[in-house]
Amino acid sequence: MELNGISDLEFATIRDFLFQKVGISLTASKKALVCSRLFKRVQALRFESYGAYFDLLKSGKNQAELQMAINLLTTNETYFFREAKHFEMLASIAEKADRSRIFRVWSAACSTGEEVYSIAMTLADMTRTGNAPKWEVRGSDISTRVLESARTGHYSFDRTEDIPADFLKRYCLRGTGPYEGTLLIDRTLREKTEFAQINLIEPLPKLVPFDVIFLRNVLIYFDNPVKLKVVSQLISNLTPEGVLFIGMAETLNGVIEGLVSVGPGAYRLDRRK
Ligand SMILES: C[S@@+](CC[C@H](N)C(=O)[O-])C[C@H]1O[C@@H](n2cnc3c(N)ncnc32)[C@H](O)[C@@H]1O
Repeated sequence: MELNGISDLEFATIRDFLFQKVGISLTASKKALVCSRLFKRVQALRFESYGAYFDLLKSGKNQAELQMAINLLTTNETYFFREAKHFEMLASIAEKADRSRIFRVWSAACSTGEEVYSIAMTLADMTRTGNAPKWEVRGSDISTRVLESARTGHYSFDRTEDIPADFLKRYCLRGTGPYEGTLLIDRTLREKTEFAQINLIEPLPKLVPFDVIFLRNVLIYFDNPVKLKVVSQLISNLTPEGVLFIGMAETLNGVIEGLVSVGPGAYRLDRRK
């Protein structure tokens, strides 16, 4: 069956729907991308048009298909030790943290988990040298596909070139036989991490406050009112001394008050407020 592209009206429908469900703002330039990412689903379900597929998503009658579309439409690019300066800052925050309680870190748009395990390796190495409090790391994302992959801690070797050599030796297991060319994050690290699905634009579940929240490279997909909503919710889950990291190419200038910059892409609550 021939499938025509997406009409302007169909694109407007999916754009508004995605904005309402996920908070992502799609510009008209993303029309071809939407077409290619959803093509296989529209075909698999034997719809004659994208519009008919969007009607199914909007009807609320097929939540599994809606999740599948969200999985396909979110952009999940990530890598180990991305924006490495933040991991140096994390280490210095952890070093000064109160040793009598657990140091908690949340990667709030964690994609396939590289950010979570980069945090875990940084903290585990400090524990090894007696420089860190007890710690735990949480990862969350809206996409169930990336969360499934994150939980396994299993990566293709070519995705791991940014892991420092001594961390590779200490915290990663090289696959052999059928697992040749892959790497598994050490079990002790995997056991200190937990993953859950959280949609950042919906009210958050009740959480224990975090010392550090990573919210990196996701705000770029949101407009200012959505950014404000997401960041406000997250900072209400920070400890009073807590630090929020956003992507270094992102900014909160003109978006929210009550935060002070403490480094590139790093903010703390303004204690004077
Ligand atoms: C580009 S990745 C960033 C991954 C990682 N933080 C990094 O900096 O490498 C953005 C992630 O945000 C997630 N995302 C987008 N909208 C979201 C929402 N409303 N709630 C939770 N996660 C969302 C996507 O699924 C995607 O995995």
